[in-house]
Amino acid sequence: MERLDKFLCDSGAGTRSQVKLLVKSGRVTVDGVPERDSSRKIDPAAQTVALDGAVLGGRRRVVVMLNKPAGYVTATEDAVEKTVMELLPPEYRHLDLKPVGRLDKATEGLLLFTNDGDLLHNLISPKKEVPKVYYARHEGQAGPEDVAAFETGLTLRDGTVCLPALLEPLGPGESRITVREGKYHQVRRMMAARGMTVQYLERRKEGSLSLGDLPRGRVRALTEAEIAAL
Ligand code: URA
Repeated sequence: MERLDKFLCDSGAGTRSQVKLLVKSGRVTVDGVPERDSSRKIDPAAQTVALDGAVLGGRRRVVVMLNKPAGYVTATEDAVEKTVMELLPPEYRHLDLKPVGRLDKATEGLLLFTNDGDLLHNLISPKKEVPKVYYARHEGQAGPEDVAAFETGLTLRDGTVCLPALLEPLGPGESRITVREGKYHQVRRMMAARGMTVQYLERRKEGSLSLGDLPRGRVRALTEAEIAAL
């Protein structure tokens, strides 16, 4: 059993205050009968809830992709910094979305959010080794010895051992890096372990997903097919 207002929010009918008004106005029915008490408990598996006659499905699994700009911390709240949650458009704010993993404040690019706990766990679990592809601009030039060191599994300056990773030099001071784990400041620390300082970092891919042409600061919902491929 769950509260009618929560069910309506999870169905995407609106924010808590919006759905309260909808219910008050008699536009919501439970098993065909208008229900004006939004605190009423319903059983979503056994009862049919409709808004203006359209049956609602309850909690939808939602996954959205953000092209994160620099300057936002990956956290659901922060007393001082701007958080990535502030970049979600209002229609996504009441869906209980959580960031999948973390990008540093200065890092840009692909960041997922979901309200599906299992999917969240699968994507951030070290065991799943989901590949993540980054573009980096850095001081210093990556050479064959750096590539080989990444391939073998780098030891960071604090002794942390990384899984084998792919370093692809793209040009002077530019590289593509593919890692299968998500340690704190991982790419910056891997490059530092090889004497290179990262000045700009962007995540371009995560698993089967690419940033594509999503503009910086914008959000889009993944399709069911994209979610299934994850
Ligand atoms: N590696 C980093 O160093 N920073 C990020 O934000 C992501 C990966």
